[in-house]
Amino acid sequence: MELLNWKLERDADGIVWATLDVPGAAANTLGSRVMAELEAIVDQLTVRPPSGLVIRSGKAAGFIVGADIEEFTRIDTADGARKLVERGWSLFGRLAAARFPTLALVRGHCMGGGLELALACRYRLVVDEPGTRLALPEVMLGIMPAWGGMLRLPRLIGPAAALDMMLTGKGVDGPKAKRLGLADDCVPLRVMDDAARILLMSGRPPRKPSVVQALMNGPLRGIVAAQARKTVAAKVRRAHYPAPFAIIDTWARHGGNALAVPAASPSSLEAIFRSSTARNLVRVFFLQERLKAFGKEGDFRPRHVHVVGAGVMGGDIAAECALRGMTVTLQDQSVERIAPAVARAARRFGRKFRSKPREARFALDRLIPDPAGHGVAKADVVIEAIVEDLAAKRALFADIERRARPDALLASNTSSLRIADIATALTKPERLVGIHFFNPVAVLPLVEVVRTVRSSDEAFRRAAAFVRRLDKLPLPVKDEPGFLVNALLGPYMYKALRCVEEGIAPETIDAALVAFGMPLGPIELVDTVGLDIAVAAGRTLVSAGATMPRALAERVERGELGKKSGQGFYTWKDGKARKGVPAAIPAGLAARIMAPLLAAAELCVAKGVVEDADLADAGVIFGAGFPPFTGGPFHQSRAAASSGGRRRQEFR
Ligand code: NAI
Repeated sequence: MELLNWKLERDADGIVWATLDVPGAAANTLGSRVMAELEAIVDQLTVRPPSGLVIRSGKAAGFIVGADIEEFTRIDTADGARKLVERGWSLFGRLAAARFPTLALVRGHCMGGGLELALACRYRLVVDEPGTRLALPEVMLGIMPAWGGMLRLPRLIGPAAALDMMLTGKGVDGPKAKRLGLADDCVPLRVMDDAARILLMSGRPPRKPSVVQALMNGPLRGIVAAQARKTVAAKVRRAHYPAPFAIIDTWARHGGNALAVPAASPSSLEAIFRSSTARNLVRVFFLQERLKAFGKEGDFRPRHVHVVGAGVMGGDIAAECALRGMTVTLQDQSVERIAPAVARAARRFGRKFRSKPREARFALDRLIPDPAGHGVAKADVVIEAIVEDLAAKRALFADIERRARPDALLASNTSSLRIADIATALTKPERLVGIHFFNPVAVLPLVEVVRTVRSSDEAFRRAAAFVRRLDKLPLPVKDEPGFLVNALLGPYMYKALRCVEEGIAPETIDAALVAFGMPLGPIELVDTVGLDIAVAAGRTLVSAGATMPRALAERVERGELGKKSGQGFYTWKDGKARKGVPAAIPAGLAARIMAPLLAAAELCVAKGVVEDADLADAGVIFGAGFPPFTGGPFHQSRAAASSGGRRRQEFR
């Protein structure tokens, strides 16, 4: 077979260096052609064994990012899924059984099938660079690491660490890979080839797990699996996310071999294939890629960000920027108002860099209190997050425009004012966009990038690029009240509050929506964002004809503002809501509360707040917590329409 993707070189010592470099692609994936060529290479080396085999990447960007997801989406039968698994499982099995030593030389991303290939080698050598990352993220796509990952990872590093990686999809960097025993060594770039050669020919026995790890992977397997099932079940339901449960079962009961799981089992490849979750999660993955792509145009690399307003939002936005390596000047009316934001940032950096206190200090050094606002004149980006008051914002921007660099990006974080109304205070209104973060900034991945009819394309491109620098997902939205996410969440929360007025207990309402798949019930959400904020956010709804729910207004009058005041719909203690036992959930309750959200989403698409229904789905999933396993509200209703009334069942 002609090798289009792999290059083979046999050096003077008889070592074969197999370099994967998929032509025309930014990153290597394991598509069917790449796998077929690898099979041919294994055939060839079995006949004429080398003294050793090194598998490496020809891409500077990384080793292998995983299987080819596009190819995966084209599989349309359970039989096709089984064949795909069989091919990887047996090929990597043959590689693992090679008589000659094998080594994976890993630089950059080594994910999914790429890590399973590396696991099938006798040794793994990783390069100590910030970009090096090893992960089995299959679970996030609703599938399993079935090409040997479930067999080899627990054997190598013990089931505790292996299940943690496989069930969360979280990656590890080079030094951590070495600490876990996933990598035999972690070396600087300049010595990687020599180090690979030495390790390959060392004759060192492959790494063995500790006695405890071996016990956990042997006689104690059942206990470990039961514990893992409990942990997963506390987070997700099997009906919504079958893959993590299937991973545990496949490891615990079938030796990590997905092909050995009987088709009738809920953990079988057939069951995973039949559930719509995997297809929907793959869809969500592509939606995420689409959002990321908005930040890829142009070459904006902001280094200095100036934030005005050091409150809840401004303080956290500033911290996020400093965390990502930018210099931040943080302005407010006095040093005293800035101090709490800096203290909060220090705690966040300390948590983030627990094992690297120097990094935490560097991040804090980058966050500079600036009560006089000197930073405005130097910044690449100026973000305003002061009180929600139009006159105050207009006055502030008129001043900022005079002092900022002419090429600086100007942005407001307002959640309820129109960007266009603020922009008219500028001589060049085309410079202003909205960059709307959600609270808590550190947790929520979505950021709405708001364009007015006058915002320039360049301002939008820069804003999206800046959002990507923070590793968040930019969603372009039109300058309409509530933009997308709040325009949907408002009617949804109001509907839930009306149900409280009808006499349904908050616990029951929240339980219904959590069962539907929301991360948090709507009443707990209102308590968390603050009842006063909910009133303010609802003003647009009220002005559009809705009445303020009495249950909300009365509590605000009594000073019950939710979590922050210790009392809202729930009583709060130590940051947790005290909840009673929910009653039986009335039929159709979740559907009733969701209906206004869906109607508002349809209206937003009709008004062009977002470009199309797919982007609305992305916004609702990443900004409002709509369950990813559904693929989004529009996708779900399309699927329901095509399968005739299933939607009602799913909403139960
Ligand atoms: P906040 O009240 O916590 O903080 C506002 C800060 O701005 C205060 O520290 C105040 O001293 C300062 N400030 C007021 N006028 C100023 C001026 N002229 N110059 C400098 N500093 C000034 O408010 P929060 O919640 O952080 O909101 C800020 C903005 O972010 C608002 O526009 C709000 O709509 C928006 N937003 C709020 C969200 C939330 O959940 N709190 C979510 C998304 C956006």
